[in-house]
Order: sequence, then C-alpha cells, then structure tokens
Amino acid sequence: MRRVTVTDLQKMRDNGQRITMLTAYDYPMAKLADQAGVPILLVGDTLGMVVLGYESTLPVTVEDMIHHGSAVVRGAERAHIVVDMPFGSYQRGWQDAMDNAARIMKQTGCGSVKLEGGMRSAETVQRLVEAGIPVMGHVGLTPQSVNTVGGFKVQGKTPREAVAVLQDAKALEDAGAYAVVLETVPTALAHMITQRLRVPTIGIGAGPYCSGQVQVLHDMLGLYQDFQPKHARRFIEGADIVRGAITEYRELVEAGEFPTAAESFYMDDRALALIERMTPRASDDMSDAEQVLAEWDSEDGEAVQPAGDGSPSRRSG
Ligand code: KIV
Repeated sequence: MRRVTVTDLQKMRDNGQRITMLTAYDYPMAKLADQAGVPILLVGDTLGMVVLGYESTLPVTVEDMIHHGSAVVRGAERAHIVVDMPFGSYQRGWQDAMDNAARIMKQTGCGSVKLEGGMRSAETVQRLVEAGIPVMGHVGLTPQSVNTVGGFKVQGKTPREAVAVLQDAKALEDAGAYAVVLETVPTALAHMITQRLRVPTIGIGAGPYCSGQVQVLHDMLGLYQDFQPKHARRFIEGADIVRGAITEYRELVEAGEFPTAAESFYMDDRALALIERMTPRASDDMSDAEQVLAEWDSEDGEAVQPAGDGSPSRRSG
C-alpha cells in the first residue's frame, strides 16, 4: 500500500478536501488510526505530557521521538507520518537541526518532521527542505515556548500579534514548509491565513476554516485527565471505559473467576501421572526424577495429544 505523500496533501487542499491529522505515539493506536483512514499521523511532542506524564513538552528528547516514531511507522501502512522535533533539537541553528532531523528520518522511517516557530525558524526550514527533508511548520501557540509566552494562551488576538502570526505563517511557506499548524489562534485569523497561504493549514483551536484539523489522540479519546483544552472534543470517555475494564479484571481475579477453563491450558493425564511419580509426596525430593524421565524418553515415541484445547503441549518422542 502506498503511503500518503506531501504532494497528496497539497492536492487534497487544492481540491478543497479537508485534511484530518491526529497524533499517535505507539503501534496499536497508529494501526487503528490508519485503519480509520486518517491520512496524517503526527508523533507529537505532546507525547511528553499525555504518555510520559511530564508537565510540559520540554523534557522530551530526540531518543523519545525516535522510539515512539518508529513504533508509529510500524503501525501505520498508509498514513503519512510526521515526527515532531523536540525542544532543544533545532533551536541552536540549522546545522543542529539537520543532524537531528536526518537522524529522526533515518531511524524512524517517517515522511517528514515538524518544528515550531515562524520567522525565527524560517532559515532552518529552508535548509532542511533544500536537503530533501519535508518540514511542517507550527505557529500561533507554540508549546515549546510556553515559558516565554506566559502559558497556554490564545495567540494573535491583538492586531499587532495577529500580523506577527500571519507573517510567521507566510515566512514558513516561503521557506518551503509543506503545511503549517495553526495552534490556538482566533478563527478569523486562521481563516485569513488559510486564504493567504498556498500550502495547507492544519488547525488546532483555530476554528473550522483551516485546510485541516489536528487533535491530540488522548484528548479526543478522553484518556488524558490532567487538563482538557477548550478546543478538544472527547469523542469517548476513554478514562471511564478503561478504568471500568481494569476494575472488572481486578474484581474477577479477587473472586477467583478469572481465568476460566476456556482461558487455561491442560496437559496429558499420563504425563501428569508421571510427574506425580517423580514427586510422590509433596516434598522437594526429586531423586527419582531422572529415572522417571528416562523411562518416558525410552517409550516408542508415541506423541502425547493435547487435551483437546489446542494448546502447544504435544510431546514428540
Ligand atoms: O505535539 C503535538 O501534539 C502538536 C499538536 C498539538 C499540533 O504539536
């Protein structure tokens, strides 16, 4: 099956087809999102918060991104996989960015990388694209700068701020970014940017007029409980469902009702009888064991059938 490419994404935008992007951090979820037809999976550095339990995305490392990115690439056959460049892996300059982006691409097999920042990241984006690394940009609220922008706040509400976000998005397009994430900006501003850019815009908390939308998987499944952003819709109450299932498992174990016979494996009665001969009383004395096993081995090779449960307990002689 052919993977979605950045050219396919541009075609979707040009044909007015809305683009769905979703974060994924591991093999099973990537597989499910792929089966659901999501064309882009982002291995976001939100990984740090929703999977690794940090308070922000800042502690996430290149190794973390490679570890999770490769699992997502293994899980999804069709989706384009974009991996976030974590804090500190590109801010020092394009040479650093080149080393880290090339490592991420080589070691995960992903199709592109994403990094935060508009004008300040434009040169880096340009160098990476020139080197053959497709880059998705990210402007508006850029969580890696949470400490300088004073928290997870809407960006671009005043005319000055709005122009800055617009210029940032334009600078990324000019540098060759194939798409730009607009995070937590007013709907009207996101609409204006989408109209002025030729490449797709992917919104999160940016209203409905972007070329596409991205959500954090653990938000939309209701699995992340520490904080629910206003823009995140819970499509299921995953935490309640998972907690309920785990509670039921614990209760059944405690009641002796798990596992049942159907969930257990059996062995041949003759083999069991021999084992009982080896340990005739409940003692640790295994002195007869070698002799009994030798008798068993010297039998004419007749195979012992499993006890009808298909379990792999066949003994070949
Ligand atoms: O890391 C992430 O998940 C992101 C999305 C919020 C766009 O960058």
